[in-house]
Amino acid sequence: MRTHRIASIPGDGIGVDVTVEARKVLDRAGQRHGFTLEWTEFDWSCERYARTGAMMPEDGVERLSAFDGIFLGAVGFPGVPDHVSLWGLLIPVRRAFSQYVNLRPVRLLPGVTSALAGRSAEELEMVIVRENSEGEYSTIGGRHNTGRPDEFVLQESVFTRVGVERIIRYAFQVAGSRSGRVCSATKSNGLVHSMPYWDEIFAEVAAEYPDIHSEQCHVDALAARMVQQPDRLDVVVGSNLFGDILSDLAAAVTGGLGMAPSGNINPPGEYPSMFEAVHGSAPDIAGKGIANPVAQVLAGAMMLEHLGERDAARTVETAVSDVLAERAVVTPDLGGSATTSELGSEIAAALG
Ligand code: NAI
Ligand code: MG
Repeated sequence: MRTHRIASIPGDGIGVDVTVEARKVLDRAGQRHGFTLEWTEFDWSCERYARTGAMMPEDGVERLSAFDGIFLGAVGFPGVPDHVSLWGLLIPVRRAFSQYVNLRPVRLLPGVTSALAGRSAEELEMVIVRENSEGEYSTIGGRHNTGRPDEFVLQESVFTRVGVERIIRYAFQVAGSRSGRVCSATKSNGLVHSMPYWDEIFAEVAAEYPDIHSEQCHVDALAARMVQQPDRLDVVVGSNLFGDILSDLAAAVTGGLGMAPSGNINPPGEYPSMFEAVHGSAPDIAGKGIANPVAQVLAGAMMLEHLGERDAARTVETAVSDVLAERAVVTPDLGGSATTSELGSEIAAALG
């Protein structure tokens, strides 16, 4: 029996609700495909922050390094500023483990109505490759002349050659295994230092992949294209900020945030990768038992694939598609009245 050691961090709000359901599904997939997921749960969260003053213990990152994978719900809770939850847990983990790829597959599943009704599943399938370690999300900067009329803040971006080149190269590799098309999100007309540099490196890497069709598009126009001509997009590569925004948009046109999974990946495999839904802790529906667990379940399928359990990953995806196509048991965000747990159990049952 193969064993994979997984650190589970349910976090806050619906992160807790959807993680329980995803674990049900993944454990069932393990039984069917001959492996065990050995879960260790950590209570690292805003709730812990409120109690102890820290999202995770000081040696948190070190403790996670012993695992084969990290399965994260979501962090964030009213009363704890978002920069605390983000910089106290998520960003340190992403950076310490060099999870420089944030991979966000997007597809319209059966039985789900898109905001772009009439579009087929083939037209609405893409993957966002988001830079996950630098760019616009930087601590460099500060507030100056505080409290004076000439008060101002500076927020710097960091784009390194290594960082830009490796994410773009990863996108070309993904494209090689899919449609053979890559579109780079830029904004070199407004951001006159960082984005021309990004574009220059994109052109260099593109030259190494003559068989891949490459193009670049300003991020604002790209957002419009994602809604108006999604069939023209497949692999979209973007900086940390652009990738973040585009993936919420892409999720919105494929049935909402309850459907969108995400992987924080360390491609060389030197460190554990971390899998989570794109959505946050949704305090507005937390504790009501109505969160859609599909995004977290599909994040689990991405984790299985990363762990080498390719067949189990496909089985989980098929189970999700089958249950959604039936439309009998779906959560309110998809127009149904099922609870988080009912949908989770239905998907687990569909695994056979
Ligand atoms: P959110 O993604 O939590 O919620 C946005 C909207 O989508 C809400 O109306 C929510 O009810 C709905 N929604 C999200 N997931 C859903 C699901 N599975 N099923 C049904 N409806 C769903 O984003 P928001 O409200 O901006 O942030 C809430 C908190 O989450 C904040 O503290 C934020 O910092 C944190 N957050 C954490 C993330 C993470 O841990 N990776 C990512 C994004 C936000
Ligand atoms: Mg986001």
